[in-house]
Amino acid sequence: MPAPLLPRSLQIIIPLLAMLLLPMAAGAKEPPIATGKMLGDTCASCHGTQGKSFDEYMPSLAGIDRQQLILAMQDYRADRRASVVMNRVAKGYNDREIEAIADYFSKIK
Ligand code: HEC
Repeated sequence: MPAPLLPRSLQIIIPLLAMLLLPMAAGAKEPPIATGKMLGDTCASCHGTQGKSFDEYMPSLAGIDRQQLILAMQDYRADRRASVVMNRVAKGYNDREIEAIADYFSKIK
């Protein structure tokens, strides 16, 4: 009988390690980014459909300068700019998502 390639203990441990580590590696992958429109639609309840405000007290986001939106969101997220709700809203988005939102709203006429 040929000798086994691996000692018996490793034959058991390697598949176990693989079972443990493979899902972790899969989980570490960055999730696909949602489109700017998808993310921007979450602002519609307050800022209006496509960022077109229906209320004089609510700033429109449609056609906003891209950099202005990015800076505002970063300031809200870091609590550098005070707001009733935007601090909480902004904490839900990472930099890539904020940029995607800025791309979306800045291109709306
Ligand atoms: C629950 C209501 C609400 C939601 C949802 C909301 N906002 Fe706001 N947003 C406000 C209010 C109110 C203000 C203005 C006053 C303030 O700063 O609190 C504001 C202000 C802003 C400003 C500053 C505009 C300016 O002219 O300075 C930006 C930029 C902004 N929001 C972006 C967003 C984006 C992007 C989303 C979606 C990801 C969003 N908001 C979702 C209520 C909301």
